[in-house]
Amino acid sequence: MKRKRIYLSIVALILILQFIPVNRDNPIVEADLIASQNIKTIFKKSCYDCHSNETKYPIYSYLFPVSFFLQHHIEEAREELNFSNWENLSASKKASKASDILEEIQNKEMPLFSYTILHRNAILTNEEIQEIRQWVEEMENQNESSN
Ligand code: HEC
Repeated sequence: MKRKRIYLSIVALILILQFIPVNRDNPIVEADLIASQNIKTIFKKSCYDCHSNETKYPIYSYLFPVSFFLQHHIEEAREELNFSNWENLSASKKASKASDILEEIQNKEMPLFSYTILHRNAILTNEEIQEIRQWVEEMENQNESSN
């Protein structure tokens, strides 16, 4: 009997927590990445939900505690890398971010594993990694020629 009451209290608490407001407004896109259609498509499907101001929130993201963790993830991710501000970066900043990107995807650290469970097509194929590698080289060459 006592246990049942505890369960009910937990359910009630979770229901109440659903009402905590979570800000899902996307900030303005200021200076979105300019790149070939191929590169844009890859980043959009695999990274933009976290690393841009164009997050598409899935329906489950409205449920506490998912809502809570997701929002935290996205804020942290945008701080590290935000494709919506990419063109505001200097050539040297772009080159260094691009090499971070390559490192993360080669080590299979990005896209985050938890994201790929429900977004299977976000997982990068070897061909896609190869295309990003070429784009990273372009960023590095542009930086060298700007010095
Ligand atoms: C589900 C959200 C999510 C997705 C999708 C995602 N990231 Fe991230 N990313 C994060 C978070 C959160 C961080 C910051 C914490 C960390 O480093 O783990 C991060 C950090 C990074 C960093 C900085 C790492 C460092 O420590 O220097 C890079 C670079 C990066 N991501 C690239 C990418 C790329 C490229 C993609 C797409 C192929 C991608 N991410 C997809 C959430 C995401």
